[in-house]
Amino acid sequence: MGERTEIPANEIDNQKNIMQRVLEVSLARPEQPFAYIDTYGCQQNESDSEKLRGMLAEMGYAFTADEFQADIIVINTCAIRENAENRVFGNIGALVHTKKAKPSQIIAFCGCMAAVPETVEKVRQSYKHVDLMFSPNVLWRFPELLHRALNERGRIFETAANEGAIAEGLPAHRDGTVKAWLPIMYGCDNYCSYCIVPYVRGRERSREPEAILAEAQGLINDGFKDITLLGQNVNSYGTGLSEKTNFASLIRRINEIEGEFLIRFMTSHPKDAGFELFKAMAESEKAAHHIHLPFQAGNDRILGLMNRGYTHEQYLEKIITARELIPDLVITSDVIVGFPGETEAEFEDTLKLVEKAQFDAMFTFLYSKRPGTPAAELEDKTPRNIKQERFDRLLALQNAISDEKHTKYIGKSVRVLVDGQSHDERYPVNARTNGGRLVHLSGAEALIGRFVNAKITHCNSWSLFGVSQEGENA
Ligand code: 5AD
Ligand code: SF4
Repeated sequence: MGERTEIPANEIDNQKNIMQRVLEVSLARPEQPFAYIDTYGCQQNESDSEKLRGMLAEMGYAFTADEFQADIIVINTCAIRENAENRVFGNIGALVHTKKAKPSQIIAFCGCMAAVPETVEKVRQSYKHVDLMFSPNVLWRFPELLHRALNERGRIFETAANEGAIAEGLPAHRDGTVKAWLPIMYGCDNYCSYCIVPYVRGRERSREPEAILAEAQGLINDGFKDITLLGQNVNSYGTGLSEKTNFASLIRRINEIEGEFLIRFMTSHPKDAGFELFKAMAESEKAAHHIHLPFQAGNDRILGLMNRGYTHEQYLEKIITARELIPDLVITSDVIVGFPGETEAEFEDTLKLVEKAQFDAMFTFLYSKRPGTPAAELEDKTPRNIKQERFDRLLALQNAISDEKHTKYIGKSVRVLVDGQSHDERYPVNARTNGGRLVHLSGAEALIGRFVNAKITHCNSWSLFGVSQEGENA
């Protein structure tokens, strides 16, 4: 059961007072201090980094992309798979050089890896240039932790993986001007047997609808056009709140806010997504016609071992219902290949599901053993090369499906939201369709932030290419 545990206002005020004190120190320096933030992992981490930036900005910091220039480096990490962790360790290791060049530099290590006891120990022992380490659930105390790091000798570790709480009222410094992340809940209570998240991000807890609605209204007033509601399992939004509410009703309420904008959300869990949600999406004109609905495996025995709470057939029934209510719905998914003990025949059930589901896009992952999770105790005898070969087969199947889906867009005119610049001269801007497919667009930068019609000219498995049909000088 989720429970709402809001940090008392006086504790938030205390952090704000500390921000003021750090600001005074920053202002007294001969030059403005710089911060460098490196973010790994999911959108929740992106959102957390926006909060770190918000707090740093209020404490007088400017931002840099140069690690040597930075007075503070914050590495916001992800623990979901081993290869992500290895990348973090590689990059943290290299910071020995920046710290040597600038001994006053503060190196902070946060995010999900900072809540894994073995990782904390490894950093304590072998990465002595890390000054500050803190887990996601104490992010709201960053001002206090930075203040201590600036004023105390010795390293600071606030890494307990506690239940977690909700901190309202801290600033966020958003990366763009068009798309915004809006967390609606934190933590996870699903305990999928392979997943580290429930252990590092604490218990599932929902923000009050009023706080979410006020933030959404603020974003729309600021001109944001694409709002993504974030949570590990948005479909269970509302559990534990005093007001009886749910995710479908939250979508309907956000939809009532005036203005031209899109409501997106992620991630959905199939066990909690159903008719009521799809109906709310179909009836809310601002809800994007996209759902990211990870299925993880196509075999019922493996789904059971994963503790997912649905079968192959039940999953397919959900997406049939969804498409009945929203015929042009874009469905994307996640899948894991090589779960401990998965046989060739069981893997083939995954291929079958993918064939039947006809996803627009799919993210395929090789199973990564996460110490401390139940799946880590299971015997895993399938050799790596067999897992890789299955992975490649699955990818080839999905690429063919994505290609076919994308080819159908060619020659059509679709409404897109232009959301940013690109690095490709031929397609100076990027856009998204209502269903969230990426469009590389030849069009003027002045179109950023606008909904325009685009003629799709060609495609690949991952994206579409097109020409804006609005005046180039618009
Ligand atoms: N190994 C591989 N993939 C994983 N995911 C989560 N945990 C693991 C793991 N231990 C994948 C799931 C999830 C996505 C964000 O990452 O597919 O949906
Ligand atoms: Fe996000 Fe999960 Fe990675 Fe944490 S471990 S950053 S919640 S994907």
